[in-house]
Order: sequence, then C-alpha cells, then structure tokens
Amino acid sequence: MTALEKENSMKRGGFATALGALIATLGSAIGLGNIWRFPYLTGENGGAAFLVLYLISTFLVGLPVMIAEIMLGRAGRANVITTLRRLSPSPRQPWWLIGAAGGLSAFLIMAFYTEVAGWVFAYVFRSLTSNILSTNPEVTTQMFVALVSDPFQSLLWQWIVLVLVGLIITFGVARGIEATTKRLIPLLFLLLLVVDVRALTLPGAVEGLTFLFKPDFSKITATAALIALGLAFFKLSIGMGAMITYGSYWKDDQNIPSTALRVALSDLAVSLLAGIAIFPVVFTYGFEPAAGAKLLFITLPAVFAQMPLGNVFIFIFFLLTSFAAIGAMVSLVEVVVAFLSEQFELSRKSATWLAVGALALVGSTAALSNSTLANFTLFGKTLFDLYDFVTSNVLLPLGGFFITLFVGWTLKPAFIREQLSNRGQLNNEWVVRLFLILVRYISPLLVLIVLLDSLNVF
Ligand code: PHE
Repeated sequence: MTALEKENSMKRGGFATALGALIATLGSAIGLGNIWRFPYLTGENGGAAFLVLYLISTFLVGLPVMIAEIMLGRAGRANVITTLRRLSPSPRQPWWLIGAAGGLSAFLIMAFYTEVAGWVFAYVFRSLTSNILSTNPEVTTQMFVALVSDPFQSLLWQWIVLVLVGLIITFGVARGIEATTKRLIPLLFLLLLVVDVRALTLPGAVEGLTFLFKPDFSKITATAALIALGLAFFKLSIGMGAMITYGSYWKDDQNIPSTALRVALSDLAVSLLAGIAIFPVVFTYGFEPAAGAKLLFITLPAVFAQMPLGNVFIFIFFLLTSFAAIGAMVSLVEVVVAFLSEQFELSRKSATWLAVGALALVGSTAALSNSTLANFTLFGKTLFDLYDFVTSNVLLPLGGFFITLFVGWTLKPAFIREQLSNRGQLNNEWVVRLFLILVRYISPLLVLIVLLDSLNVF
C-alpha cells in the first residue's frame, strides 16, 4: 500500500453495524425502480408473464451478480476501478474497464432518475398546495402532462433533487446514508400495505390481480426477456459498480450471501406491493395498463381519492417515495464520488459537487425531453428514453456479464470460498458451491442468450 492508499483507507467511512450495511444496501436497491418502474414495465410487457421473467432474472442472474459485486467490493476496499485493478490477477488485464463503464452507467441513470425523482418531489409539493385526487383518468393524466411539458418546472425540480443528494453525500457514508434509510423503509412498507388493502377492495381488484399474477405465456418475447433482465439489474443496483462500492464499506464478518438474499427478497416484496396497489386501480377506473412512464403518477391519485384522508396519505406516500429515491441516488452518485475522490485526491465535498454540477448539465437534457427537446431524438428515442434504454438494456447486463466472467473464471475458487465464508467462520460450503455454479455457468449464459436473442441472432 502506498502512503496515499493508506491514508485513503483510513479516511474511508464504513457502515457502522451489520444492520447498517443491510439497511444501506437495501436503501440503494429500493427506490423508483420498485414504485415507478416495476409497475409500468409490468403493465407494458404483459403482466404476470413478465413477472415470471423478472423472477428468473432476479434469482438466477441478479442475486449471484449482487453477491459477486459485494464480495469484490469488500475484498478490494476501494472504488470500483481501483478494486478491479487490485483484484485482477495481472495488471495488464483490463478488468477495470467494467468499473469505467459502471461510472458511465451511474451517470446516465442519474440523468433520467433525477428527473423522475423531480416529478415525485413536485407531487409532494402539489399534494400540499392543491387537490390532486381524482378517479378520472383524463384529469390525472392532464395533471401529469402539465408538469412534464413545462420546461421550467422540470428543470427546477430536478435541480432541487440534485442539490439535496449532494448535501446528503457530503455528510459522509455512515451518517448520511444509514440514518436516512433506517427509518424510511419500514414506514414505506406499512403505507404500501395500507394502500394495498384499499386497492384490493376496489371492484377491479380481481382483474388487477389476475393481470399481475396469472401468466399468459404467449406474452413472453425476446424483448420482454431483455427488459425483465434489465429491470432485475436496475432493481438490485448491479452491473455498474454501486454494489462494489457499497461492498467496500461492509464489515469483514458480515454474511454476504444471506444478507444479499434478504435484500433481494425485501426489494421484490416492495415491488409487488407497489404492483398490487396500482393494477386494481387500473382495471377499476379504466386506465391503460401500458400507459408507460406516467402510470404511477396517473393511477395513484385515483386510489387515494377513495380513501379517508386521501390527500394526507398521498402526501405521505410521495414523501416516502422521494426518500426511497434519495437512497438509490446516493448510491449512484457515490460510485462516481468514491472514484473521483480516491483517484484524484479530491475531498469528498469537491468530488460530490463536481459530479452534481456535471449531472445538472447532462440531466437537463433528460428533463427537457418532454418539452423543449421533445422533438430531438436519437435512434428514434428522446434523450430521456435513450439514457434509460442504454443503461438498463445494454450497459447493466453487459456489466453483469463481465462481472460473472471475472469472478467465475478469473478469480480462484479458493479465494471466493474464503471471502464468502468469511475465512471459514461461516459454515456455508453448499452456498459457495451453488454460487460458483450460478456465477460460472448459469448467470453468464442466461445474459448472453437474452442479449443475443434480442438482437435476433437465433
Ligand atoms: N435500484 C435503484 C432503484 O430501484 C436504482 C439504482 C440502479 C440504484 C443502479 C443504484 C444503481 O430505484
């Protein structure tokens, strides 16, 4: 270790407790992906059949990649690029490129994620200042369109989000991230349960549940498989280094496989709860299940309109959603900040504001995609859609693929066994064996098949 590395490793924060690491990791996973993205993609891609693809992707690909990333991070104890360099068998092998691509993914995800988070913030504000409840699809859709097609509001809310995330990150790893997430997740869970109870007593509940849980296998297509895979990566914050970066803050005695499993299960539970809140509403009031990115924003005002104290509850709902989004964004920006500060000897503060400033520039192009730049398209997509598509459907799956190659085929099984069993302290040989089979064969093959299939190779 050089003197600088030593200094950096001392400066590096860490999650204070095992529970803290679990909660912060959960805070990265749970976010707009569950509440906004999961329902709308499920609605667009055929309901339950898509859910089946998503479950396969989550447990056969997502979970192994997540374990692999956390293991790498904890063993490397540095930002993604340095970690991959440190753990490569030879400095000439360019595995660090996975980290560089991950930094790019983090950046592009943030560009559109901050915009959606901005919509959530705007709804928090609006639920305080006006009545946003209605069961009329035209009214709620109009309200959403008015927001996103206004360039000033779009930018304003996005920048507010960015500044807030910057402030939280400069407070440091343990204090900022753990503290915010710990209180929020149980509350979010609880509120979703309340909304679910209301949704399940609507007349369209059975139809909604059928859509979400009764698969029509004719809806399975190559595109749906790729989108499900991308969603699984996006959901678990993998394929781009966030989990490597967070893993670097994990303690040595934390049980990686079992904690990762708990994160994946809780994350799935939140997504399902969000789906159960939304689809009964869709079928009760005649919303379009395939309404796309606006689905959450146009359907929720309808379910809350049917609840006592609906305008209070919708305020709390969007507020909790905004906290969940912040936990996820903090982990995205942290990938870039950890790298900038360690690589260029910048203070965390300067690194954070540098990243936030750059994000405000690039993010604006996504924020204006529904107004000023609506007609500006590349490959037939607005910039918002392009950043979304390229990250989830290309960069994250590729990142995950190379991580499985690195861990499964480059690192020694003995090293993996030592890491996952915490140097023999855990008695989990069968878990290690199962992990090795998944990470070497099953996960990379599935990613490859889905990617090639969507390119129409077969
Ligand atoms: N998992 C987060 C969500 O579902 C998004 C995210 C993706 C966060 C990639 C970090 C890295 O909202």
